[in-house]
Amino acid sequence: MNSPVMEGLRLNVPAYVRHNRLVAWVAEIAALTEAREVYWCDGSQEEYDRLCAQLVDAGTFKRLNPELRPNSYLALSDPSDVARVEDRTFICTPDREDAGPTNNWMDPAQMRGILQHGQPDGTPGLFRGAMRGRTMYVVPFSMGPIGSPIAHIGVELSDSPYVAVNMRIMTRMGRKVLDQLGTDGHFVPCVHTVGAPLAAGQKDVAWPCNATKYIVHYPETQEIWSFGSGYGGNALLGKKCFALRIASTMGRDQGWLAEHMLVLGVTSPDGRKRHVAAAFPSACGKTNFAMLVPPAGYDGWKVTTIGDDIAWIKPGADGRLYAINPEAGYFGVAPGTNDKTNPNCMASLKRDVIFTNVAMTEDGDVWWEGMTDEPPARLTDWQGKPWTPQIAKETGAKAAHPNARFTVAAIHNPVLDPQWDDPHGVPIDAFIFGGRRSTTVPLATEARSWVEGVYMAATMGSETTAAQAGAQGVVRRDPFAMLPFIGYNMSDYFAHWLALGKRLEAAGVKPPAIYCVNWFRKGADGKFVWPGYGENMRVLQWMLERLDGRAGGEEDVFGITPRYGDLNWKGLDFARERFEQVVHHDPQAWGAELRLHDELFRQLGARVPAELDQVRVSIESRLAARAA
Ligand code: GTP
Ligand code: SPV
Ligand code: MN
Repeated sequence: MNSPVMEGLRLNVPAYVRHNRLVAWVAEIAALTEAREVYWCDGSQEEYDRLCAQLVDAGTFKRLNPELRPNSYLALSDPSDVARVEDRTFICTPDREDAGPTNNWMDPAQMRGILQHGQPDGTPGLFRGAMRGRTMYVVPFSMGPIGSPIAHIGVELSDSPYVAVNMRIMTRMGRKVLDQLGTDGHFVPCVHTVGAPLAAGQKDVAWPCNATKYIVHYPETQEIWSFGSGYGGNALLGKKCFALRIASTMGRDQGWLAEHMLVLGVTSPDGRKRHVAAAFPSACGKTNFAMLVPPAGYDGWKVTTIGDDIAWIKPGADGRLYAINPEAGYFGVAPGTNDKTNPNCMASLKRDVIFTNVAMTEDGDVWWEGMTDEPPARLTDWQGKPWTPQIAKETGAKAAHPNARFTVAAIHNPVLDPQWDDPHGVPIDAFIFGGRRSTTVPLATEARSWVEGVYMAATMGSETTAAQAGAQGVVRRDPFAMLPFIGYNMSDYFAHWLALGKRLEAAGVKPPAIYCVNWFRKGADGKFVWPGYGENMRVLQWMLERLDGRAGGEEDVFGITPRYGDLNWKGLDFARERFEQVVHHDPQAWGAELRLHDELFRQLGARVPAELDQVRVSIESRLAARAA
């Protein structure tokens, strides 16, 4: 008797699992990776607590002081495994052109050799025996509300219990997902190993990982294979790998969008509610904007969070675009978060949190740069070493890693939108795109048309952050804040956005307005000129009033920008000269910027939609006319 179900008995398959294809796949991966045992996650609180206790025993987690931070834990990663690894991320399509010039590509057969089947020279596949001595966790998860027509199911097989508990916070996870899958439901298979097999009797380390890393996507078969990292988007495969890279290819084929966007609701004092989706690159302010607290002078305004990182956006029955947040939790940047800049976020972090790579205080609580003006006198830093302000002064050592993160369930957010898990989503009134630019790009610009908006988003640049391994502060083109996350050819992605706008217009629906923002212009002193955070509400209000035709603006070569008098300054003392610094257009800087747009288009090659090139040419000629 070799049926999958019989085989399943040795795989600890719970009686409630009725999906033969799933069981057969679990058996196949358990055999390939030689996992010691298989554990099926049911998603219960009891299971979560048990796995966390196990992680404490293993030294991966430290339990935080239950009086100060109930039911919360701190994990410190290996210093080499602290962020997404974009240069190790691959899109494996049969035709290289379908991955496009911005993705790392490898032929699927060759990649399967490296990962699974072994190479012609006899080198075994990396996954062969990779889970030896470890438990393989079966993590069934739903991106989007379970059973909703817009949700998609995945199953992650991982040898990391850290991944299992994080996935329980970040997604709808466990038995209820398998019930939904039934006997033959569709799921995206996701295989993850830290790549650190244990020999018999070998003692484990607190954060197992491997110097070799592969984050691999096969869009044709909708598979994800991740090797060697336990951190964030490398390992929590529902997030960037599934909900962006694989989902973007599903959206291309099915006529919808998977975007690196927060979604917020904004209610004005007259009770009217609008919804905005905003794409900023990693560590450029999405979580903060999604939880924005309107500043002094904004009585009666309220901002509520639908999502803080990813949006799936589909045309609804009325032709408008509706967005859902496929996630159920936040994996957010800790440094810079405090009671002044983001009190809603701080309130979300009071209990039931997994912190990764922040510092620990002497009384067993957490701390990170920017949490308080004065750092505590003594800390244990993210590498487990003693840290004092003096040591920091001498060595520059950070208490928390700049990409230190918290994992917390959305339901802990005090401004969670009542519709945050509505399977129909919320109708989008405006899209915002924004990068981190210390120069050149003004505070806010409105596109005059969908095509001009797509151009702005497509050519957006941003300074790199600690969210990805590699150099920081380097300006790179990050189209739609999706450079690392588009699972196919970027030119085709631009064309998909253009086609969507045409489809809306053909259906007689006014597409959402498109805006471009930059909160990060710096002055001669190297400091941010714009106060940001809650004060970004002033820009948001201008946009909403523009939608109603109630706010003014100045038409320039790039779009429409607010003049000083177009913003509401109630409650903020922000001088006209400072405003000039954040909206100023420097023709020389823009000349250089346009050359970078041109370079991007040239890099993308022949598939760039001609309409976008036309926008660039018309901006160039307007700029030249102005200079003349
Ligand atoms: P990912 O989770 O990596 O996708 O990041 P994110 O886009 O959600 O960024 P997040 O809101 O976590 O902010 C990242 C960093 O930027 C934090 O240190 C914030 O304090 C800082 N930040 C956010 N908004 C603003 C702003 O308006 N002005 C300034 N100066 N900094 C900001
Ligand atoms: C990002 O880098 O954009 C994140 C964090 O949101 S990660 O989950 O690691 O991708
Ligand atoms: Mn992100």
